[in-house]
Amino acid sequence: MAGKIPQSFIDDLLNRTDIVELIDSRVHLKKAGKNFQACCPFHNEKSPSFTVSQEKQFYHCFGCGAHGNAVGFLMEYDGLSFPDAIAELANLHGLQVPVEQSGGYQQNPAAADQYQLMELAGRYFQSQLKTAPQAIEYLKQRGLTGEVVKQFGIGYAPSGWDGLRQTLARSATAEAQLVELGMLIQRDNGGSYDRFRDRIMFPIQDRRGRVIGFGGRVLGDGTPKYLNSPETPIFHKGKELFGLYQVKEKYRNPNRILIVEGYMDVVALAQFGVDYAVASLGTSTTPDHMHLLFRTTAEVICCYDGDNAGREAAWRALENALPSLQDGKTLRFVFLPPEHDPDSYIRAYGREVFEQQLDNSPSFAEFMFERLSRDINLSGEAGQNELANKAIALIRRVPEGFNRESLLTRLSAQLRWGENEKRLRDIFRRQEQEDQTRTTPAKSGGKIKLTLIRRAIALVVQHPQEAALLPPLPDVLKSLNEPGIEVFMSLLAQLHSNPMTTGQLLEHWRGTREGNALAQLAMLDGIAIGENIREELEDVCDRLLDLYLQQRLEILQNQSQLTQEEKQELLFLISEYKRT
Ligand code: CTP
Ligand code: MN
Repeated sequence: MAGKIPQSFIDDLLNRTDIVELIDSRVHLKKAGKNFQACCPFHNEKSPSFTVSQEKQFYHCFGCGAHGNAVGFLMEYDGLSFPDAIAELANLHGLQVPVEQSGGYQQNPAAADQYQLMELAGRYFQSQLKTAPQAIEYLKQRGLTGEVVKQFGIGYAPSGWDGLRQTLARSATAEAQLVELGMLIQRDNGGSYDRFRDRIMFPIQDRRGRVIGFGGRVLGDGTPKYLNSPETPIFHKGKELFGLYQVKEKYRNPNRILIVEGYMDVVALAQFGVDYAVASLGTSTTPDHMHLLFRTTAEVICCYDGDNAGREAAWRALENALPSLQDGKTLRFVFLPPEHDPDSYIRAYGREVFEQQLDNSPSFAEFMFERLSRDINLSGEAGQNELANKAIALIRRVPEGFNRESLLTRLSAQLRWGENEKRLRDIFRRQEQEDQTRTTPAKSGGKIKLTLIRRAIALVVQHPQEAALLPPLPDVLKSLNEPGIEVFMSLLAQLHSNPMTTGQLLEHWRGTREGNALAQLAMLDGIAIGENIREELEDVCDRLLDLYLQQRLEILQNQSQLTQEEKQELLFLISEYKRT
């Protein structure tokens, strides 16, 4: 269990961060009145319902209900875990994330140690390469320069069973960690041995340059040709891309990124100056990969082998990329001659010819229609309908906008339904309706009934600075018989001890049962009636107090026996009620 990040540090980070600036660096925002707007990055839409409030330091989408503060945005948009989102923000401000050591629980080796162990493993393999002539010979024979070997941190795992283990598993804890990290394999009868032996080692780095896994290639023809790190707490194949860190080191905003199949391809391409290639890690290209790539660049080019397997891989990549094809994003496909992969191709023909292939490569639309109509006979009505149905099922995954429209236009041209586009729209709508009846609508933006207490809470989360100035409420109010009163009271207590923005306040409720409801209330329109927030806050407090007095009065009046104190309280309450 990792140490806890102190809440005060998170508060401070959110204090230093402007959510508008942060989001704008990823999704272009336009000013709209007091707020900023964009088309929602979390669902497909044509008109902007994604709203960012600078004052509240909070975002909310009125279309899909997505919401959160700066930390939440990074988690959702960049696909980061909570600690990584915090680290990312800290990084932006040049801060180190402190770890709370107190709290009584044992300080187990934290994730930081895991990254460090992987880093050390990488260095170990690199140092082993220097004293392994056969490995150096292999790399030379594959045509790699010392420079590119160094740039990618390529190393060598020696053939013994415990080279890495001897070097890094200095304690039982370290050994257990290395097993968890997939570097050692546990023996049934205790002890462990190196997973990677006599292999060329390609370190896989995450977006922040940390080593999270390895791919290891045999020197000759042994099997498996490549051995990869298993899934570990820090390595998730479907989310990482080999070489992306190097691309981003080189280009802050790469014009295009090439996605290829192999480690060797990425390295060879970089050596020849095509330094914008990445590889998925022995898996097909996932939607996560595509999402990640399209966040980094506007154009993704898939370069797969020209054989059947390559075409299948390309088709899966296409399907997975469709939801990421926002306007301005393009996807293309390059198929090399069957006897080549990018590595052998660029060595045979050089950079220029290779890049010409890229420049002339078909767009996803071409690839899509060629593939869809391959086995369909378009001369008859049945075939046409089949194509229309299949194509529309795919086109619907593309976000609304130019990309989608041009696919539809192309489809109607292909069908020669040009003069009858309505037919396509009908199919489109029918599919949509079928979908809607299939999936039960889990409405995120459902209407919230605005009770007094909800309105009170909404006012507080929407105007925390004003609420912080309220005089303290009597503690007894906590026993008001009204669901939500405790939340209301603790919100006020939090603000009294530490004035905050909406985004910060809600950070304190992350992961709680109430967090989600609070976030919804935070962006609810029409809570404040006028301009004088302070007065409205005081007013709801008064009404809550009244409600409490009223409830108390009822309880006491229904009680047959009253103590002296209770009698006095009753009298007081009656006089109080006469007054108002
Ligand atoms: N791969 C894998 N496991 C295997 C074979 C392949 O994970 N047993 C993955 C690796 O990421 C590899 C990619 O699939 O880089 C492509 O495999 P392949 O085309 O067989 O190898 P090349 O990349 O051409 O490797 P090399 O040039 O070294 O033969
Ligand atoms: Mn190859």
